Amino acid sequence: MERLQTEANVRHGDLDRALTRDELIDGVRDADGLICLLTDQIDGELLDANASLKVVSNYAVGFNNIDVAAATERNVAVTNTPGVLTDCTADMAWALLMASARRVVEGDRLVRSGQWGGWEPLQMLGAEVTGATIGLIGLGRIAKAMAKRALAFDMRVLYWNRTRLSAGEEKTLGVEYRELDEMLGESDFVSIHVALSEQTRHLISTPQLERMKPTATLINTARGAVVDESALVQALRDGTIARAGLDVYEQEPKVEPELLSMPNVVLAPHLGSATVETRTRMGDLAIENCLAACRGERPPNLVNA
Ligand code: DGY
Repeated sequence: MERLQTEANVRHGDLDRALTRDELIDGVRDADGLICLLTDQIDGELLDANASLKVVSNYAVGFNNIDVAAATERNVAVTNTPGVLTDCTADMAWALLMASARRVVEGDRLVRSGQWGGWEPLQMLGAEVTGATIGLIGLGRIAKAMAKRALAFDMRVLYWNRTRLSAGEEKTLGVEYRELDEMLGESDFVSIHVALSEQTRHLISTPQLERMKPTATLINTARGAVVDESALVQALRDGTIARAGLDVYEQEPKVEPELLSMPNVVLAPHLGSATVETRTRMGDLAIENCLAACRGERPPNLVNA
């Protein structure tokens, strides 16, 4: 805030909650730039509230909350915060993977309930992570950071991506390419790392879940709508797959009610980038992007180039 105030008059909402739609539209009216959250829907209606708006700077790497075409049509720059939350988000995906596989949350609940009767040979057996096969959906920065973690656990790392890497790059990263269906069928863990777009909405639905092993775990730290959440509930209920670790949901903050009572699901409230260091870096980048565009310069992370 101090940094912003050195160059701009700053108007902001409460720092611990998103603005309502009306507050957002009101707030943007005579501004040069808008720094917004991934929970803010930025569309034609909002952009039309201010014909002189220069930039929408998203405080997130994902920008599916912004109608980029509408912004481009109106000559408004759109920016995001790539690169600064890579390890933090991969750490969260890894935490969900480990917690799901080793039933950490279920175990915590048992101990707290006072019902734990002591060590038993067959109690809460989970899935072995070391040496297992992981399938990465997408191979951007976060997926690559996930591959590094997986290789440290002696895992076989498969990936599916729109574009395949060169053989040399695959070798350097230690990853093997598979078609999506093939990868789903071979993996013990599947972790999603693609942006949400019309092409990736419900990329994982019933047919894809049916390709997965009945012992498999699905991890999603990308965007909820990449997974068809009701198909996932069905698959977890039927034993089509064994478990899931989710940080994101189709209709945040709503969560499919049935997920809430499933012991084989670990649920986090969209915490992928939630460390002090990462959120600070995201803030710095959002400010840099916003101020650059307001000065008439090309912002470092322009989405609608
Ligand atoms: C992003 O930046 O897109 C993340 O989801 C924020 O946690």
